[in-house]
Amino acid sequence: MTETIDRYCVFGNPIEHSKSPEIHRAFAQQTDQHLEYTRELVELDAFMSAAENFFAAGGAGANVTVPFKQEAFQFAKLLTERAQLAGAVNTLARLEDGEIIGDNTDGAGLVHDIVQRLNWPMENKKILLLGAGGAVRGVLLPILQQSPASIAIANRTRSKAEELAKQFTSFGKVDGYSYNNLPSEPFDLIINGTSASIAGEVPPVHFGCFGEHTAVYDMMYADDLTPFLEFARDMGVQQLSDGLGMLVGQAAESFRLWRGVEPAVIPVLEKLR
Ligand code: ATR
Repeated sequence: MTETIDRYCVFGNPIEHSKSPEIHRAFAQQTDQHLEYTRELVELDAFMSAAENFFAAGGAGANVTVPFKQEAFQFAKLLTERAQLAGAVNTLARLEDGEIIGDNTDGAGLVHDIVQRLNWPMENKKILLLGAGGAVRGVLLPILQQSPASIAIANRTRSKAEELAKQFTSFGKVDGYSYNNLPSEPFDLIINGTSASIAGEVPPVHFGCFGEHTAVYDMMYADDLTPFLEFARDMGVQQLSDGLGMLVGQAAESFRLWRGVEPAVIPVLEKLR
C-alpha cells in the first residue's frame, strides 16, 4: 500500500523568492509531519482555475500571496471572521467535508511577532498604523483584539484611512488621518504597512510621533534595515524590527490550521536570518 502525502503549495506571481516552502518544510520536520509543499507560479488571469485544479486534484491546503489574496477571498466558499474583515485570504484549507475555507493569518502572525517574540505589549498602547491598503486592512482586527488604547491610521490619501477606520470602529477606537493632521504626540508603537519601501521611499511621519519609548515595526523585511527602520533609527528609536518574524508567524498560524499542531517559530526565524 502506498502512503498518500498531503499536498500544500503557495500561489503567487512572482513566486520564485517565496520563503514559504522552506518555512513549511522546516515546520513539518520539526513536528514530524509528512507533507509536500511546492511553489506555484500562476499567470495573472489564472488564479481561479489554478486553485480549482489544485483542490480537485486532492490538494489539502494552500497559501496565497501577492497579487491573488483578493481572488482567494472570492474563491473560498467559507470564510473566517478575520478573513471576512480583511477582505483578503492568505490561507486556504480543505475541511473534512471537502469544502474550502479561506482564512487570513497575516494579523495573527504580526501580533504574535510583536507581542510574544519582541515582548512589546499592545494592550492600552497608542498605536500608529501607516498605510490604508490591503496590508493594513489584513491586520486590523487581530491588533484591535489586543485592546490597544487607540489606533491611528495614517495615509497619504486621507479618505482611504478614514473609510478603513470607519469599518472597524465597532471593534475599538480607530481613526483615520493624513500625515499632516496626525496628533503631534509620541505613539507607543508605529507599524509601517505601506508599500513605500518598494520604491525606496519612506512614509512622511513627522518627528512629533516619535518619543523616547516608541517602538517601530516594519511589515516589510530586508537583509539590512528597511528604509523606514533606518529613518526611525535616525529619529532616535531604539526598538526596531522588520517583518520577517511576521512572515514566519503567519506561516505558523496556517500550519496550525492545516495540521492541528503548533510549530515553534523562533528556530525557523533564526534559520532564515
Ligand atoms: P498593499 O496591499 O500592499 O497594502 P496597496 O493596497 O496598493 O498595497 O496599498 C499601498 C499603501 O501604501 C497605500 O496606503 C499607499 O498610500 P496611498 O493610498 O495614499 O497611495 C501607501 N504608500 C505607497 N507608497 C507610499 C509612500 N511613498 N509614502 C506613503 N505611503 C505610501
